[in-house]
Amino acid sequence: MRIQDLIAKKRDAKILTNSELKYVVTEICEGTIQQEQIGALLMAIYLNGMSTNETISLTEIMKDSGFIFKWENNEKFVDKHSTGGVGDKISIPLTPALAACGLKVPMIAGRGLEHTGGTIDKLESIKGFNTRLSPIQIKKIIDNVGCVITTQTEEMIPADRILYSSRDLTSTVASIPLITASIISKKAAEGISSLVLDIKVGSAAFMKDIESAEILAKCMVETGNLMGIKTSALLTEMNNPLGYMSGNALEIIESIRILKGQGPQDCISLIINQGAELLLLSGIKNNHDDARKAIKNVLNNGKALEKFKEMIICQGVDKELAKKICLEPNLLIENCKFKSKIYSKNSGFISSIDAMVVAQFILENGGGRRFMEEEINHNVGVELHVKLGDFLDKNEPWATIYHDSELNISEQLVNCLQLSEKEIEVKNRIIKKIIY
Ligand code: URA
Repeated sequence: MRIQDLIAKKRDAKILTNSELKYVVTEICEGTIQQEQIGALLMAIYLNGMSTNETISLTEIMKDSGFIFKWENNEKFVDKHSTGGVGDKISIPLTPALAACGLKVPMIAGRGLEHTGGTIDKLESIKGFNTRLSPIQIKKIIDNVGCVITTQTEEMIPADRILYSSRDLTSTVASIPLITASIISKKAAEGISSLVLDIKVGSAAFMKDIESAEILAKCMVETGNLMGIKTSALLTEMNNPLGYMSGNALEIIESIRILKGQGPQDCISLIINQGAELLLLSGIKNNHDDARKAIKNVLNNGKALEKFKEMIICQGVDKELAKKICLEPNLLIENCKFKSKIYSKNSGFISSIDAMVVAQFILENGGGRRFMEEEINHNVGVELHVKLGDFLDKNEPWATIYHDSELNISEQLVNCLQLSEKEIEVKNRIIKKIIY
């Protein structure tokens, strides 16, 4: 077999067999394929798609590329994964909240992809937090705490580690088979029994409309279930940033506020709904009201925050620092040089806050990366003071921008807000649930 022949096959929209896909993934993991070839193959898949069987094969082969966890009695092992958004920090408070409810969460997450933020980058804004754990370390933390958030390595899902960064470099992220294989391979390797997916839809998501988001959701739910994981998906709106904070350190601050029961309503609602779904899928609770109550309770009684503190300490954060940031999360951004407010030029009801403009601002000013190995500035971010539907007066501050170098901020964010004279009906972010 020659890689260039397989690229040609996919370029001509033909189907790759299981053994051809195995060959490609092996070559990728062994480093015997050229970067140009990975890029060409990804673009061919992006443009021509994959059949259902091809997508399932690719997912299984990627899962098998590294270590696979096998837990005794895995009913309590669950996870959640988002397809990526702006201000989407839900995994960070949800993971310890689930552990506080008695579930086990061995989460393998990723870095930022294109304009979207990554859970791993966000957590690395906490000094000392180790995101590259070995399977032995993961097992120990799961035994002791019940939850862990780590990333793909040479040992765990190496195929996704390589393809993830190549897709980011080649604008081939927004592909239904590639997103499916990337996410479901990671979840299957975790050895979990139940999974909830947050399929983002909107101008700042990889799926821009409900129809394509639904196709992606069905593909992922079907693949997850075929791999033995009870999987369901929620389609959620991603036109406006989630919560008030976007940017790595800011999102940890907001996550800690959520864990103290003080988070913004849109974030809390997603956590309660996704968490409740997992409590039901895993059989810990048998009705929706009890499941929702359980998640609310651990956010309000400090148990989820306690789990978060234990998790970050087990992942390398100094005990005293962990205690301090849980008490006063703003410490995470105290070394940021500039905090600049932006004032509204007009008055009106906020009809849109463009998440893509926020994301591009963060990316271009060092809060995201142009290539996977690039260092990022965790301080860079946008704190909104308003939400959709709020009334904003002329000259009122609507955001604070965190940055470490002099910037012409208002110019870069000029098109972010849309105001309307009429009141706005604010819809629930949850659009639809997809079950198998
Ligand atoms: N998250 C992932 O892990 N993979 C994707 O392709 C998109 C989001």
